[in-house]
Amino acid sequence: MKPIQVGLLGIGTVGSGTFNVLQRNQEEIRRRAGRGIEIAMVADLDTERARSVVGDTAKVVGDAREIIANPDIDVVVELIGGYGIAKALVLEAIAAGKHVVTANKALLAVHGSEIFKAAADKGVMVAYEAAVAGGIPIIKALREGLTANEIQWVAGIINGTTNFILSEMRDKGLDFDVVLKEAQRLGYAEADPTFDIEGVDAAHKVTLMSAIAFGIPVQFDKAHVEGITKLSAADIKYAEQLGYRIKLLGITKRTDKGIELRVHPSLVPTKRLIANVEGAMNAVVVHGDAVGTTLYYGKGAGSEPTASAVIADLVDIARLHTADPEHRVPPLAFQSSTLAAAGGELPVLPMSEVVTSYYLRIRVADEAGVLAKITGILANAGISIDALLQREAGEVVGDNEGSQGVPQTDLIILTHATREGDMDAALGQIQQLPTVLAPINRIRKEELN
Ligand code: HSE
Repeated sequence: MKPIQVGLLGIGTVGSGTFNVLQRNQEEIRRRAGRGIEIAMVADLDTERARSVVGDTAKVVGDAREIIANPDIDVVVELIGGYGIAKALVLEAIAAGKHVVTANKALLAVHGSEIFKAAADKGVMVAYEAAVAGGIPIIKALREGLTANEIQWVAGIINGTTNFILSEMRDKGLDFDVVLKEAQRLGYAEADPTFDIEGVDAAHKVTLMSAIAFGIPVQFDKAHVEGITKLSAADIKYAEQLGYRIKLLGITKRTDKGIELRVHPSLVPTKRLIANVEGAMNAVVVHGDAVGTTLYYGKGAGSEPTASAVIADLVDIARLHTADPEHRVPPLAFQSSTLAAAGGELPVLPMSEVVTSYYLRIRVADEAGVLAKITGILANAGISIDALLQREAGEVVGDNEGSQGVPQTDLIILTHATREGDMDAALGQIQQLPTVLAPINRIRKEELN
């Protein structure tokens, strides 16, 4: 059978990895797919760079629309990124009857509903394994391997840049800004790292996992997104002393009231495997009612790890593109006719309705009655304390004397699970106490058991 004909839009890091792995493993891949997979055309603004990668094995063009217009191309692989031209080209490729493979989490998290509908109307596939956690086949696992389960929650370290920064902060006791500069110098963090450090990239990915896990539409606009820029070395150190590590987690949970969808730094017990995922590695924990807890670990970015996911999608398309669309795996795991209904019954909850436990660091004047006032406010709000640590003045991480020379200390409180809205109200009152000397640091805590 003639090899399936692929057109690549963009041949940067992932595109060249895709080309190289397809070349190197072509015989293995052909045996699995049942036919060859051939990159026939490549579009890149830098045609010289594209030619230096593919030589004369593929036609190189500067205009992506030449690929879309070519009737011989079966699959378009979009590796441009972003919402702009990438969205236009993906929709044009679908309209031209091409299957699409994309690594573009931002595009699908924000415009997924429109794109999946256009693909369904046209009877083509949109595959996106590379969009979430790079080389880890988490889309396949959630959508197919765990299909028997009612998924209860998913929690992942799904941004390598921030995990690298947090690992360095913990190892070296450095603050965020210092490590970010070092990460940029080493090339781990982008020159503009905003999407990574503010949690947006992780939120794109957890939005996609949430849709697949629970059969709801992609709803990035409803995700709570918080990054790591406000974390201090002191919090990481105190967490460590209490038996926790701080990780940026993407979390989505099924509750009686609806779906939690959130990205924020979280304390995770050091004894959990996911707490020990270090450097730029990714990991996702999925809890299903039948299977229990499962863990997926690997490289979340990089040329060949991401290419591994792109090619897995190409193999799926090579196997399934002659099947009736209704016999293919639905892009969001659930039959599309059931998605809207599930979205209605399973609303994404506002953050005030999320129930979780907390780490609080409160810088207080070290004088009689301060602790009683704080615990009194928490008790009145129905918030139960799990553990409490008051550092001796000499042990406080950072300054222990304020500008007015008032002796100060850090009060560290771990709470049991409570509604975020109740915690917000209690913290509002605590912050007003004259003996509370600095903005309260609040970090959510996830036991993941
Ligand atoms: N910038 C991402 C990360 C990789 O640091 O994990 C691509 O999503």
